[in-house]
Amino acid sequence: MPAVVIVGAQWGDEGKGKATDLLGSEVDYVVKFNGGNNAGHTVVIGDQKYALHLLPSGILSPEVVPVIGNGVVVDLGVLFEELDGLEARGIDTSRLVISASAHLIASYNRTIDKVTERFLGSRRIGTTGRGIGPTYADKMNRIGLRVQDIFDEGILTQKVEAALDLKNQVLAKIYNRRAVDPAEVVDELLSYADRLGPMVTDTGLLLHRALDAGDTVLLEAGQATLLDVDHGTYPFVTSSNATSGGACTGSGIPPNRIDRVVAIVKAYTTRVGEGPFPTELHDDAGEFLRTTGAEYGTTTGRPRRCGWYDAVIARYAARVNGVTDFVLTKLDVLTGLEQVPVCVAYDVDGQRLDEMPVNQTDFHHAEPVYEYLPGWWEDVSTARRLEDLPVNARSYVDVLEKMSGAPISVIGVGPGRAESVVVRDLT
Ligand code: GDP
Ligand code: IMO
Ligand code: MG
Repeated sequence: MPAVVIVGAQWGDEGKGKATDLLGSEVDYVVKFNGGNNAGHTVVIGDQKYALHLLPSGILSPEVVPVIGNGVVVDLGVLFEELDGLEARGIDTSRLVISASAHLIASYNRTIDKVTERFLGSRRIGTTGRGIGPTYADKMNRIGLRVQDIFDEGILTQKVEAALDLKNQVLAKIYNRRAVDPAEVVDELLSYADRLGPMVTDTGLLLHRALDAGDTVLLEAGQATLLDVDHGTYPFVTSSNATSGGACTGSGIPPNRIDRVVAIVKAYTTRVGEGPFPTELHDDAGEFLRTTGAEYGTTTGRPRRCGWYDAVIARYAARVNGVTDFVLTKLDVLTGLEQVPVCVAYDVDGQRLDEMPVNQTDFHHAEPVYEYLPGWWEDVSTARRLEDLPVNARSYVDVLEKMSGAPISVIGVGPGRAESVVVRDLT
């Protein structure tokens, strides 16, 4: 199976890191193709827990070549901090390769991210404050800095000065902040050049040759379908394409080489940051999901907003991404409920909608239409085959599969590598 894409089906934190790790031993390359250190992927191996932000989850598998693709935005300080942290824990990170065309998060874009959010006040997005949005905006405005620029001091200086020309006016005159000295930015970026040099390559060519040679490439999304800048709940989204199309533009692998699209979907729903969320719970049930599912952000530590499974969203994700398989995670968290509600449609001003509303305004006041499925009390964490699941847990999975538009091939019953029911192999 040459090229497999992994995406999040909801608003992130579905368990993409664990799914990538699960496939780690069967793939040759793991490519991060979008986003940056706004992501937070937790991988549990034995008694060790790793939180990855900028690095692809494949870095933890000794045989895998981890790749940071051209679609990623790279904070070099964070990159080396994360690499050093893993090396200190005995992980060999020497195989990492980085695209020469990936964009760099400059310090001024972290500042702009934070001051813009403050300025927006109640209209804020609730970003991670890592400079992601302003860096992608610079890319589109054609004033961005790329990895390759730090190997040409003259070009780098020109680009930083050009970017700061306008930004310094905005920082000083609108946000009342100190103007940024271009030379300081250039010096900081140049200080990383020697260490970065050997990692940088034409990753598109590398992956193309790998596929020609019959190697398996896993393309791992950060964020998720409803955080995608085109297909998500705009403007409450991130600034990149987190859907399967982004895997092509963000890696240089063309669509006709992608064989499988695996979407990770939680057995309930969570969201971090602002924006609409029809099945959100503000009661004890929401608190139950947050506590039992340990729903606190890997990147910012913020409590995640929690709600029931939304089949409308899952169907939408299946359609937008061309999902061939779902990995349903965190089934174990639902153990102990009398009934488990599942949202099957929305009620918008008295009208039933079976698909995502065309207009965001409608989505903001969409009321979930629930079906109530019987719960289970038995521990599911030791299940390894479908037959091991209690009858009601199994029928919950069956109903979700019928509603969600693609087969459920793996079921997560705990955070560890082994805590999975594999119905069908993913590679
Ligand atoms: P990602 O951003 O999609 O990689 O997901 P996160 O790592 O941010 O959040 C998912 C959390 O759920 C992590 O703490 C995982 O260790 C954990 N996890 C993943 N799959 C399962 C599962 O099936 N059951 C339980 N209980 N936890 C899981
Ligand atoms: P993983 O990969 C959940 C959210 C932020 C905010 C919005 C924009 O772990 O699933 P940004 O800093 O990207 O400009 O913030 O997107 N967000 C995430 N939410 N999981 C993530 O990543 C996220 N990355 C960004 O909370 O609402
Ligand atoms: Mg996460």
